[in-house]
Amino acid sequence: MLQAINLHKKFKTKEVVRQINMQLDAGESVGLLGPNGAGKSTTISMLSSLVTPTSGEVLWNTVSINKNPEALRKTLGVVPQEIALYPELSAQENLAFFGRIYGLKGKLLSERIEEILMKIGLSDRKNDIVKTFSGGMKRRLNIGAALLHKPSILIMDEPTVGIDPQSRAYILDTVKQLVEEGMTLLYTSHYMEEVELLCDKIYIMDQGEIIAFGTKEELKSLVSDNQTIELKGHLLTAEFERELVSHFPTASVRKEEEILLLSMPKNEEPLATIFAIAAENDVNITSVIVKVPSLEDVFLHLTGRALRD
Ligand SMILES: Nc1ncnc2c1ncn2[C@@H]1O[C@H](COP(=O)(O)OP(=O)(O)OP(=O)(O)O)[C@@H](O)[C@H]1O
Ligand SMILES: [Mg+2]
Repeated sequence: MLQAINLHKKFKTKEVVRQINMQLDAGESVGLLGPNGAGKSTTISMLSSLVTPTSGEVLWNTVSINKNPEALRKTLGVVPQEIALYPELSAQENLAFFGRIYGLKGKLLSERIEEILMKIGLSDRKNDIVKTFSGGMKRRLNIGAALLHKPSILIMDEPTVGIDPQSRAYILDTVKQLVEEGMTLLYTSHYMEEVELLCDKIYIMDQGEIIAFGTKEELKSLVSDNQTIELKGHLLTAEFERELVSHFPTASVRKEEEILLLSMPKNEEPLATIFAIAAENDVNITSVIVKVPSLEDVFLHLTGRALRD
């Protein structure tokens, strides 16, 4: 559907995006994850025909968008990183303004506005002017503005930055629902949990380049196919440790102070057995933590740096 081929962007002499290749197929939910300044916004601005690449091209249904940007623009919704709304207008008036830009008018426009207000949970605030809204409400309205013309593909640039947890949860739910309804999504973020929750495929970007690509599972297996189980408890005896070793031949077991650590393949489900062995050996387990690699670990593994500073 949407394809980036060797996209490159220089601002003066600064190379901000380098030889990026990406692909979004219909109905897919794709994440673009990277730290501040990685080049995410520049990349999606090129993908949505707002910024011209220094070299490379973007194809929409195999046709270059340089030749026909309108074909893409008609069916694309973009939620920009910076909120773009008129503070002196009401929620409804803002949506009407954006709807007219997309060529909607009359009854169809008012119907769409009502539907969108419902979707973003602002129906009861529709007549209030935007400058009285919280950050989260503005963000929701910004998302609504991108959905008015029923786009088939939605590009979102860090839509949950700087808002309260409740609005964030609302936005994530709304986006998840859009994806379930068949929306093709490109979701940009530096929050790995959001990308994990929403996206099937993930591109990890750093310093202008795509440094990794795959499903969550594929990316995480770059780090390790293991899970680590941390057990804390009373009387973690040598006998208990020996029993664990004999029950889990694929595991490595070690003790660090008062914690027993088992490392074993991710596909094993050992907790019930661990508790049974503990009961037989009069070991009282007081806490269990199961750790699997996160996308944060993947980024650290690839770059030696943390995703967020
Ligand atoms: N118009 C511009 N002129 C010059 N430099 C720019 C311009 N736009 C972006 N840059 C630079 O390009 C780099 C990448 O910026 P970009 O906004 O694409 O990153 P980002 O991954 O979206 O970061 P953030 O997470 O902070 O939004 C940054 O170093 C930025 O300063
Ligand atoms: Mg950005």
